[in-house]
Amino acid sequence: MPCVRVEREAGEETRQALADRDLLDKQREIVHEDGVLYIPVRESGDLPEEYDVVSRETPARETQTMPADLLEFEPSYERVGDVVLIDEDDPERARALADAILESAIPVKTVLNRASKIQGETRVREWEVLAGEETETRHREYGCEFALDLAAVYFSPRLATERHRVVEQVQEGEQAFDMFAGVGPFVIPFAKRGAAVVGTDINETAIEYLRENAARNGVSERVTAIHGDVRAVADEYEGWADRLVMNLPHSAAAFLDSARTIAGEECVLHFYDIQHEDDPFGPGVRAIREVMEPEYEVCVETERVVRSYAPHEHNVVLDVRLRRTETGG
Ligand SMILES: C[S@@+](CC[C@H](N)C(=O)[O-])C[C@H]1O[C@@H](n2cnc3c(N)ncnc32)[C@H](O)[C@@H]1O
Repeated sequence: MPCVRVEREAGEETRQALADRDLLDKQREIVHEDGVLYIPVRESGDLPEEYDVVSRETPARETQTMPADLLEFEPSYERVGDVVLIDEDDPERARALADAILESAIPVKTVLNRASKIQGETRVREWEVLAGEETETRHREYGCEFALDLAAVYFSPRLATERHRVVEQVQEGEQAFDMFAGVGPFVIPFAKRGAAVVGTDINETAIEYLRENAARNGVSERVTAIHGDVRAVADEYEGWADRLVMNLPHSAAAFLDSARTIAGEECVLHFYDIQHEDDPFGPGVRAIREVMEPEYEVCVETERVVRSYAPHEHNVVLDVRLRRTETGG
């Protein structure tokens, strides 16, 4: 029986993508084993190559009722701890989906519907509360636990797989700087791998959660959390970083001067961007070269589409190795 094998953290994203393509075998249960999920897919399904397909037995479905079982449309939702997030413009559909989520086996405290785009400097979204009231929760991602309040900070569970890809590159003892740290989904796992990590954020509430999350995950001694504009902090960390994370898509290019200040002799930069599908990487690469050269030799090691962001727009990441040249002194 064919199943798609995927790490638990990428499970909901993968299940959703398979459901969208009508490839799920809804007669069988998803199986969880040692941090890996086996998602049953239809035998006749035409699966894209990106999936790791294995053959294994999974039990027939009979127990857990999921929202999809209670609705006439294929529902789309995300889970952040025990808060479920939906994105429905039509109030009737939103109500039906919220009711189905509450009635399903999903452990849920609050259901929130998107009420705005992410907005302003702090990138926080407004939410319409459809069930429950609390917007604070605790979310687990690849063995780390994050406390956060969705009404007060930015957080996206959809980036879990991408963050994990970056985390796996981190070496013990390195110095990493997250310029737009949020509640710490890069900072905390970096520190868990033995890096010394600095995270800055202009949102004071995010920095309070970052400190709490460092303590919660036992890495406070390796984490420095700074509230403020990274441009005002950069000089204190001149030449410090072996690794830089810039996850502020749309605006990161405007902060490359600060990145150059913070970068050490040799530094890997993870630069997130949102661009048109026709040239998703070009604008970022050009912006980085313009600021970093000739002081740094710029070597683009990875160009990756993280996810589709809007019709014809991609959220992408560039991994770029910077090496200081003689001009850079
Ligand atoms: C897209 S979020 C990313 C948060 C986190 N890295 C993550 O992946 O969840 C961008 C963050 O940058 C912060 N921010 C925006 N402008 C900033 C600035 N000038 N200096 C420091 N942080 C800033 C926002 O408050 C927000 O938390």
